Amino acid sequence: MAVLRTTTSRILASTRPSTLSPFLRRTYATVEPISNLGEAMSATQRPVSPKHTSTIHEPAQSPEARTKTFHIYRWSPDTPTEKPKMQSYTLDLNKTGPMVLDALIRIKNEVDPTLTFRRSCREGICGSCAMNIDGVNTLACLCRIPANTSHEARIYPLPHTYVVKDLVPDLTQFYKQYKSIKPYLQRDTKTEDGLENRQSPEDRKKLDGLYECILCACCSTSCPSYWWNSEEYLGPAVLLQSYRWLADSRDEHKAERKEMLDNSMSLYRCHTILNCSRTCPKGLNPGKAIAEIKKTMAFT
Ligand code: SF4
Ligand code: SF4
Ligand code: FES
Repeated sequence: MAVLRTTTSRILASTRPSTLSPFLRRTYATVEPISNLGEAMSATQRPVSPKHTSTIHEPAQSPEARTKTFHIYRWSPDTPTEKPKMQSYTLDLNKTGPMVLDALIRIKNEVDPTLTFRRSCREGICGSCAMNIDGVNTLACLCRIPANTSHEARIYPLPHTYVVKDLVPDLTQFYKQYKSIKPYLQRDTKTEDGLENRQSPEDRKKLDGLYECILCACCSTSCPSYWWNSEEYLGPAVLLQSYRWLADSRDEHKAERKEMLDNSMSLYRCHTILNCSRTCPKGLNPGKAIAEIKKTMAFT
């Protein structure tokens, strides 16, 4: 992490002086155009796209090739004086799997081994391949490559995150916030029979739509409130997780959990813009979970 460096975008120029420590002076992922930026960014605030470089073609394309171009955000801490850039690659879709992650893996394996991204499960379970594809935060392994070869794909790291390298966002703050809500069952009493903490089917049902969250951070990094206040506002993913424990009939520390949210920043920075619910690749509704927390805070 120590090698991360400043290639500050214009959006940061006025807010982050060059005197910041090297740790804080990191590349900040920016996206333009992006459909889920929400209302919060005006034309003057919008960052400028990184510069394009030449296109790298995959070798030996056949005459029947269905060639598609992918423009991909690149930045490396190994060349700290260079600004972020867009690198273009062309691939034959006939030789590429159907998902964007398949294209990224082919580029890395066969065209450019320096391209860096996270992935693990390849089936929407681990949350590591979250990135911004054609203006939408989503999981690369669940995102189909549009069959239209004239459409050129644009791939960026999750917006408004510091970048570790290329498509890898720095989620240190996100995980720190997750840890802060104590995301585990808290009880002071033992069950009568000393066995596991059981739950009625009805109470278990209350966790549906919450327990499925894979912490990919697509929702939090699409939230304008989180962009501007991520030091203090917990953001939709962590708040959804917080509600997962508030809604759990077995948890005995609800008062403490609510007290932690009872300030002007942790919860109430949500202005119901609902970018979070629109973008969740697992079809969850963090906006609704936040509304439920607000109701719980007001009425119980
Ligand atoms: S709510 Fe959805 S978008 Fe947000 S972290 Fe969980 S799975 Fe990802
Ligand atoms: S509903 Fe709240 S958490 Fe979701 S995008 Fe809007 S402000 Fe952010
Ligand atoms: S690789 Fe695990 S969610 Fe995409």
